[in-house]
Amino acid sequence: MRIPYIAGNWKMNMTPSQGAALVKELAKQVKGCNAKVMVAPPFVTIPAVVEAAKGTNIIVAAQNINEHDSGAYTGEVSCEMLMDLGVGNVIIGHSERRIIYKESDELINAKVLKALSHNFDIVLCVGETLEEREAGKLEEVLSRQVNVGLKGVTASQMSAITIAYEPVWAIGTGKTATPEDANKAHAFIRSLVANLYGKKVAEETIIQYGGSVKPSNVKELMACEHIDGALVGGASLKAEQFVPIVRCGVLE
Ligand code: PGA
Repeated sequence: MRIPYIAGNWKMNMTPSQGAALVKELAKQVKGCNAKVMVAPPFVTIPAVVEAAKGTNIIVAAQNINEHDSGAYTGEVSCEMLMDLGVGNVIIGHSERRIIYKESDELINAKVLKALSHNFDIVLCVGETLEEREAGKLEEVLSRQVNVGLKGVTASQMSAITIAYEPVWAIGTGKTATPEDANKAHAFIRSLVANLYGKKVAEETIIQYGGSVKPSNVKELMACEHIDGALVGGASLKAEQFVPIVRCGVLE
């Protein structure tokens, strides 16, 4: 049984006070809901959101970590710092980190291994650009991102890994992959996990879809066999949009 997992990636939005107010509102409205709910605020907003989320079912995650424990890495944040705040979840390999900040698959893999060494739960993002899709490279890109991203990860550590399939051309553009296209990519990702870890681990792995998820399209996406949740950007910044998305992930 794969529990639906709905995550909000706030990106570079929400001051500490705005974030705390949003989480208080979300907490009221998603109380008792049996989907897994996560929000990922910017680093400086995390302490206020952790405080506001205390005693609720909302998980607080970071949007990134550094692959080292400490040292001369100006501007970076370590797992240990997050753990001190009570945070044990992180998004790794978001396409904005890959594209804007030039994070390679190898760097993303180092971050995954570092986060696992501190017992973090991880959302590992993968997904192709429009050029890659149009060049027929979807499977090649996903294979590389999954195989390199998970290098050195053991089968038992896979329970800490969620994979988010986010076609880059669908992020923040209002364009969503059709449920059929998304489901096909998810099925392919699941087959990659099965090749690495066997069928049982693959069947248990949560694969989220991300890219312009909204209250109006979440239902048909979540109805697909291989889509187990959503990683939501823009629509996670307002309770009136994020709550219906979470509610759609609720088990009947
Ligand atoms: P979007 O972002 O929902 O605004 O398209 C998704 C993401 O980048 O995770």
